[in-house]
Amino acid sequence: MLAYRHAFHAGNHADVLKHLTLQLVLRHMNLKPKGYRLIDTHAGAGGYSLEGRYAQKKGEFEQGVMRLLERAANGETLPAAIAEYVNLVRSFNGGGALEQYPGSPAFAQQLLRPQDQLRAFELHPTDYKILSAYLGGRKGAEAHHADGFDALKGQLPPPTRRAVVLMDPSYEGTADYPRVVSALRSGLERFAEAVCIVWYPQVTKLEAARLPQRLQSLADASAPKGWLHARLTVQQPDAQGFGLAGSGLFIINPPHTLHDELLQVLPWLTDVLGQFDGANFLLEHKGK
Ligand SMILES: C[S@@+](CC[C@H](N)C(=O)[O-])C[C@H]1O[C@@H](n2cnc3c(N)ncnc32)[C@H](O)[C@@H]1O
Repeated sequence: MLAYRHAFHAGNHADVLKHLTLQLVLRHMNLKPKGYRLIDTHAGAGGYSLEGRYAQKKGEFEQGVMRLLERAANGETLPAAIAEYVNLVRSFNGGGALEQYPGSPAFAQQLLRPQDQLRAFELHPTDYKILSAYLGGRKGAEAHHADGFDALKGQLPPPTRRAVVLMDPSYEGTADYPRVVSALRSGLERFAEAVCIVWYPQVTKLEAARLPQRLQSLADASAPKGWLHARLTVQQPDAQGFGLAGSGLFIINPPHTLHDELLQVLPWLTDVLGQFDGANFLLEHKGK
């Protein structure tokens, strides 16, 4: 069905939570010199114009990354992890005004080292074309026009036996929810130590509500380093129960520092990104 285009949503509150966390995970991976492979199963286009008609249509970035930049512009000292995330967004814009928002492959490009690898999968033909032009010729990076769920297990384990998986599907129908679980199950069978970051939308769908529990069972059964679950709720669903109230990340084998790092920024993010009085966050984890 591939109707979803991330350009409509680039830089929104969900992207802020996801890319901030991706940044923290990759910085932790970078503490060891040995290279790793980042597998971005649903990579999108790599970067998005915020001035184009897609992003302007709903202006979602104005309620997301823009709010962080406004706080910085007003002289507020940002929490360290947020300041680092904001710097990555700024450097994607050449240090100037916010005109483009980096997608996950672009955050990765800024953080991966020469010894690391990026394997990015994207099914939408237009987004794949942009992605492959963006990544083309970059050492260690490959873009594939292929199904990221199916491709995952073939990417594990990498030769260095260090891997991060970002699984960020569009959840257009309901089929993606079970596919997330089954793709990760077969990936973890091949390499149980992979750090797996799964994004999911906070919407009023049974499948979305159940996903964290299903991932927790999978992690309890197969992940040597436990799991972490973070969710940021920024708005109320509309009267019909539709709309993106917030989003969550379920991380299998998280870095041991991630819980405390997120605990330091989630209250601030809730305050800055919240669009109603009931804005809140959840953070739970189980180490092993
Ligand atoms: C939420 S967007 C990805 C955003 C990107 N990860 C980022 O953070 O910038 C999801 C993307 O997955 C693509 N997609 C949908 N189903 C896919 C599949 N089975 N395999 C690979 N890509 C898929 C969509 O076309 C869309 O571009």
